[in-house]
Amino acid sequence: MDSTGSTPAPISTERHYELLVQAVSDYAIYMLDLQGRITSWNTGASRIKGYSASEVIGQPLEMFYTEEDRAANKPALLMQQALAHGRAEDLGWRVRKDGSHFRAQVVLDLIRDANNQVIGFAKITRDMTQPHEAEQRMEAMREQLFQAQKLEALGQLTGGMAHDFNNLLTIIISAARLASRTDNPQRRSELLESIHSAGQRGSQMTQHLLTFARRGNLQARVLDLHEILPATQTFLAQALPKHIHLSGELDADLYPVKADPSQLEMALLNLVFNARDAIEGHGEICLRAVNRTLNGEWDGLHGDFVVISIADTGVGIDPAVQPRIFEPFFTTKGFGQGTGLGLSQVYGLLKHLDGSVRVDSAPGRGTTVSLFLPAAIVTPSA
Ligand SMILES: Nc1ncnc2c1ncn2[C@@H]1O[C@H](COP(=O)(O)OP(=O)(O)OP(=O)(O)O)[C@@H](O)[C@H]1O
Ligand SMILES: [Mg+2]
Repeated sequence: MDSTGSTPAPISTERHYELLVQAVSDYAIYMLDLQGRITSWNTGASRIKGYSASEVIGQPLEMFYTEEDRAANKPALLMQQALAHGRAEDLGWRVRKDGSHFRAQVVLDLIRDANNQVIGFAKITRDMTQPHEAEQRMEAMREQLFQAQKLEALGQLTGGMAHDFNNLLTIIISAARLASRTDNPQRRSELLESIHSAGQRGSQMTQHLLTFARRGNLQARVLDLHEILPATQTFLAQALPKHIHLSGELDADLYPVKADPSQLEMALLNLVFNARDAIEGHGEICLRAVNRTLNGEWDGLHGDFVVISIADTGVGIDPAVQPRIFEPFFTTKGFGQGTGLGLSQVYGLLKHLDGSVRVDSAPGRGTTVSLFLPAAIVTPSA
């Protein structure tokens, strides 16, 4: 009974649905006939697209599409797809009444009558502009952080390399002086040869440094690790003090992986710097890469992976701090010695690549950090 004392008329099931659809304001929900003309319109559709029902009923679906999408016949293709498969989905840009664009996630379902005859389409559109912008902002922040880290790493690298350059110049200068004094042609050609190889080594160092420093869009591509890792190893070795030795062991026939090479190199550099900092006095760092097939043994991963690991003979990680080492800004290093961003870059990259990171460490027994990179599926070119 209502306040007037009379019993309200019962609401039919159809009316219930209509009221429900009308009340939804976060989704545009409307129907189309088989020609793609709009036959119903809810509150969410008015809110997202800016049109009232009277402005759109009877109008073709195309009116919400961008010029390019109309030229590409996208609305008709979407309907054809729904007719063929019962449903079609799309993510793309649509146009509001005021001409502004929004990012739309669209689902188009077939509607059938009681005799199973197709009578039109149900269309549900969600405005994804904000999540899309948030995703782009995250991506921009990641890129900025990467560039900032790279600058810091470059500072550390060039510091170490200046020393190596000096050594090379010492070789070149003294060999040139000796070569100008000797009358022995054999001796002279040996000296010229060492000038040549020292010069080449220096030139390789600068080349690699310049490639590393270059600012470019981060772009994942299929990488042959046999091409990348040996050069990276030489580059990393040059950044280490003389009392730390870096060795490398690569499996033959490593799977190709898909990654941005400069980000991968940055991750390895972060790990090698961590290993360097953990080594007191003389020590060893070993870079290994092996193929592994996983069935959920680590982090629930399944399939073929390349595992690149950096093992060191350093002090190891205290079990009390181990759970925190991937946190951004977590560092046990003194002020000005560590930002705590190295491992968070490594972790962020591997998650981005659908891989994982594993740390095995014990105090006094060194640390091994393993990167699990999914093997890339390479389609043979015709
Ligand atoms: N190989 C390692 N051996 C021992 N401890 C390590 C090793 N790698 C990381 N850690 C520990 O994890 C912490 C976090 O490492 P992370 O690389 O994120 O930051 P950081 O090295 O302190 O600073 P940054 O890399 O920004 O210079 C380190 O401070 C250190 O305590
Ligand atoms: Mg670090």
